[in-house]
Amino acid sequence: MKNNNIYKNLYNGEWIESINPPIDIISPIDNTSFGKIQSMNEKEVNTTVTNAKLSQITWGETPINERAGILHKAAEILLENKHELSLILQKEIAKDKKSSLSEIERTADFIKFTADEGKHLHGETVGSENFPGFKKNKISFVTRVPVGVVLAISPFNYPINLAASKIAPALIAGNSVVLKPATQGAISTLYLAEVFNKAGLPKGVLNTITGKGSVIGDYIVTHKDINFINFTGSSEVGRHIASIAGMVPMLMELGGKDAALVLKDADLEKTADNIISGAFSYSGQRCTAVKRVLVEEEVADSLVEKLKERVEKLKIGSPEDEVDITPLISSEAADYVEGLIEDAIAKGASLITRSKRKGNLIYPVLFDKVTTEMKIAWEEPFGPVLPVIRVKDIDEAIKIANASQYGLQSSIFTKDIDKAFYIANKLEVGTVQINNKTERGPDNFPFLGVKSSGMGTQGVRYSIEAMSRPKAIVINIEN
Ligand code: NAP
Ligand code: G3P
Repeated sequence: MKNNNIYKNLYNGEWIESINPPIDIISPIDNTSFGKIQSMNEKEVNTTVTNAKLSQITWGETPINERAGILHKAAEILLENKHELSLILQKEIAKDKKSSLSEIERTADFIKFTADEGKHLHGETVGSENFPGFKKNKISFVTRVPVGVVLAISPFNYPINLAASKIAPALIAGNSVVLKPATQGAISTLYLAEVFNKAGLPKGVLNTITGKGSVIGDYIVTHKDINFINFTGSSEVGRHIASIAGMVPMLMELGGKDAALVLKDADLEKTADNIISGAFSYSGQRCTAVKRVLVEEEVADSLVEKLKERVEKLKIGSPEDEVDITPLISSEAADYVEGLIEDAIAKGASLITRSKRKGNLIYPVLFDKVTTEMKIAWEEPFGPVLPVIRVKDIDEAIKIANASQYGLQSSIFTKDIDKAFYIANKLEVGTVQINNKTERGPDNFPFLGVKSSGMGTQGVRYSIEAMSRPKAIVINIEN
């Protein structure tokens, strides 16, 4: 998999190098080199995709039970190596130790659940007599078959979980996979590929492609032998891929600006706990992070006080320590967050906690009295900044929540279940959480975004169904 800290790509069961000079992966913690990855050229990508297409044929005919056995083995190997892999995550993407381990354990559970769920994949028969003008002389035998070669593109923030949540459902459905990880995060994702390889996947069924998305991305997503694109990343890149890929089915998990709506009857202690954990875990670098709070004016002072107490207790430092806030993924990301903070201060937001930066490390920031003129009210910071917007009533909260370009999730905090359902029905998002932070898990739940937040539905069974298709064979009976 690697030689002198130069990581290679998995091709046809072997780890291979590219002709181009490798890309240096710099750790966000201390800006030192953590290793190098390959920068594949178009010819190499083409060879990989072509081989994935050939390898899929036998894999698609392999009994699901056998495919499931390999996935279970992969989950076991992943768990056996969780401490080693957790160290890689800590160094490569600055994810704190606890979150790194939890990402790996959750992924092993996801793979096992997918293996078991795949065994329930079945078809149906449809008769003709129900349709006007037809007799009982036709039967459609409908089975589910693989789509072919799945291109999985993963983001930096969950290099294990958001790669495996594409790979495992694609594989159990009988597809081969070409995996393009985020450049920052690729070393972690390549480790995952090696786990599947060691588990006994046949050659060529899972292959990796590394290189900058801005350089080889367009070539891969428009390759004629890619039959499905499963992408997680920013709305900007997702929209670009959708605009050039042509008639290829896609699943897209994109950006978010999840709102927590806090009603005046909410349990404010529980609400504050949820909001803090939702907004600040992994320094806010989660699509499902709470990215704005819309609170009814009557309880705003009290809620802000409780949020302040909790923000001040967040532990800040290096991922290997038991901390909550770690350096952001890059200096560009930190610059962007700093810009949003400065914009909010300049436009009169109340800065409740001290704003401070050391390298890529942004200390957690809580703003009160944010207005809709400020960038932080609308943009996705992907950093530890939480804006509180005060509203006069729930209708104003709904209006502001829905004015966002994003539509991933929202939370409602209230003791009044009727009001919760009234609001939930009006919110333009994939999922509404009642009295809980916004979050994806458990991973068998449907997970989807509307508007700029995505396309299609993920979640174990949903992902398997998305990456397989019905195949109908019609028997015509003479009578
Ligand atoms: P990103 O910059 O959009 O990158 C995502 C992936 O796309 C990376 O593998 C990237 O490769 C690749 N890419 C870039 N340009 C491409 C192109 N032209 N063609 C094909 N692939 C291309 O996103 P990120 O910074 O890694 O992740 C953060 C974003 O992802 C946030 O907006 C977050 O909300 C979103 N996200 C959403 C979910 C969800 O479930 N809804 C989950 C996690 C993250 P390179 O790294 O080589 O550029
Ligand atoms: O941002 C990625 C998403 O998968 C996070 O999952 O369950 O931590 O919200 P969760």
